[in-house]
Amino acid sequence: MRLDKFISQNANLSRSLAKKAISSGQVSVNALCIKNPAFKVSANDKILYLDKQIANLGYRYLMLNKPAGYICSTKDDIYPSVLNLIDIEKHDSLRIVGRLDVDTTGLVLITDDGQWSHRISSPKTNCQKTYQVDLAESIATETIEIFAEGLLLKNEIKPTLPAKLVIQSKNRVLLSIQEGRYHQVKRMFAAVGNHVVTLHRLSIGKVILDTQLNKGTWRHLTADEVSYFSLN
Ligand code: URA
Repeated sequence: MRLDKFISQNANLSRSLAKKAISSGQVSVNALCIKNPAFKVSANDKILYLDKQIANLGYRYLMLNKPAGYICSTKDDIYPSVLNLIDIEKHDSLRIVGRLDVDTTGLVLITDDGQWSHRISSPKTNCQKTYQVDLAESIATETIEIFAEGLLLKNEIKPTLPAKLVIQSKNRVLLSIQEGRYHQVKRMFAAVGNHVVTLHRLSIGKVILDTQLNKGTWRHLTADEVSYFSLN
């Protein structure tokens, strides 16, 4: 495939912008800056645009640093969708992987690859999600054990799966959970008599929120990040 076509398809630039990006030296192939838009590339080439690796796939895979005040569904009567923050072509085919509450911030994955999305969200995958949690009350050290053993949430009959709690300060913790029950983190802390003040997702599996991403901004995933949830 021609390099300009590859960049246009996978970095979501128009063909003419892709050509400009290439001729102005913003694209490298296997660590060499290539300024010829007609240069031929293949599946095994490592292609970087603005120093970030572009996944060589027909689908789009993005990470967003979600700000508070946006919802993780396509439509809502009150709040704007996180998809409003994604300014790319063929926007309608994008889907949000999992849900964060309107007041939760941090890592959200977005894709048009339904199977990839399903592998992350499926309860069978037991994909770890890590949150930074600020709490209203001081954290009791016993909570580490209670969460590790699993606890019953209000109106549920099945205890939560083992979760890992790391105490960072008396009111700030990191919590890693493998499930995605409704308001799970908030309800876990409520079950031990505490209250979540702010909730920020730092990672999903091995994909870590890029610290360079300001709230409300997004980037393409690298090929490695996409591969963490691929079959091979
Ligand atoms: N748990 C919650 O309570 N809220 C979120 O947004 C995510 C996990």
